[in-house]
Amino acid sequence: MPAQRDDSQAHGSAPVHITVDRAHAGGPQHAIKIRARDVNVFYGDKQALFDVSLDVPEKAVTALIGPSGCGKSTFLRCINRMNDTIPGATVRGRIELDGEDVNDRAIDPVILRARVGMVFQKPNPFPKTIFENVAYGARIHGLTTSKSELEALVETSLKKAGLWGEVADRLHQPGTGLSGGQQQRLVIARAIAVSPEVILMDEPCSALDPIATARIEELIDELRNQYCIVIVTHSMAQAARVSQKTAFFHLGKLVEAGPTGEIFTNPRDSRTQDYITGRFG
Ligand SMILES: Nc1ncnc2c1ncn2[C@@H]1O[C@H](COP(=O)(O)OP(=O)(O)OP(=O)(O)O)[C@@H](O)[C@H]1O
Ligand SMILES: [Mg+2]
Repeated sequence: MPAQRDDSQAHGSAPVHITVDRAHAGGPQHAIKIRARDVNVFYGDKQALFDVSLDVPEKAVTALIGPSGCGKSTFLRCINRMNDTIPGATVRGRIELDGEDVNDRAIDPVILRARVGMVFQKPNPFPKTIFENVAYGARIHGLTTSKSELEALVETSLKKAGLWGEVADRLHQPGTGLSGGQQQRLVIARAIAVSPEVILMDEPCSALDPIATARIEELIDELRNQYCIVIVTHSMAQAARVSQKTAFFHLGKLVEAGPTGEIFTNPRDSRTQDYITGRFG
């Protein structure tokens, strides 16, 4: 079996692993935004992740793929400490955001989750108006000082999420009255409103039809100019379309990670090959 390819060789004095965005060959190299090292996660005494080491590039989309139950969501939740909220979950190892250990006692998980926003499979707008959904985080974190500033922030966030044109005249109607695809863009606007650095997306399109999916994929492609995005997807086609880096997980282990083009055309590990060609999962 070929050697395991992950980013663990970036330990100690080994050269820092820089991921090049192949979609912009010759363009600027991407710095590493998130550096995970030897991450192990347990639910009670059941281990869900085994020594996962991965570098996630800044201003790019990283796709996490692999069969159901392989630990993709678990890994995603390590990045903004959502596993803290699961009774019995233990996380060991190191996850750095811009070189800072997210599990450090000095880190406030509430602030961390504003820096690292999350979008789930099922759109989850709050039972509030469209305006209030987007304004919510800004209010909690005291990001604006006047009504007009808050209104401007809501408008900018909805524009960035590609939803403004569809909701500008109904801002004070319930967010839950939007279509599934619109709700997902509303949730993305809500995440964007608190100026995150990273956006985690756990199968954000799996409850959407192909048109709404295409819309979210376009949006992800625009957002990567500004944010570090990590997306879990069961769609190989989607991973190939939207991501620049792909990480393949299997049975709690990171089997390999690399530029998306390489993972899909020339995987090193037979398990990756089998998964992307639909032989299992
Ligand atoms: N809250 C939990 N309590 C106990 N075990 C859990 C919990 N969440 C996940 N697990 C277990 O951890 C392992 C990894 O689950 P995880 O949800 O991370 O997988 P996944 O790759 O996201 O799967 P899927 O593609 O089905 O969403 C699985 O064996 C799962 O049963
Ligand atoms: Mg999952």
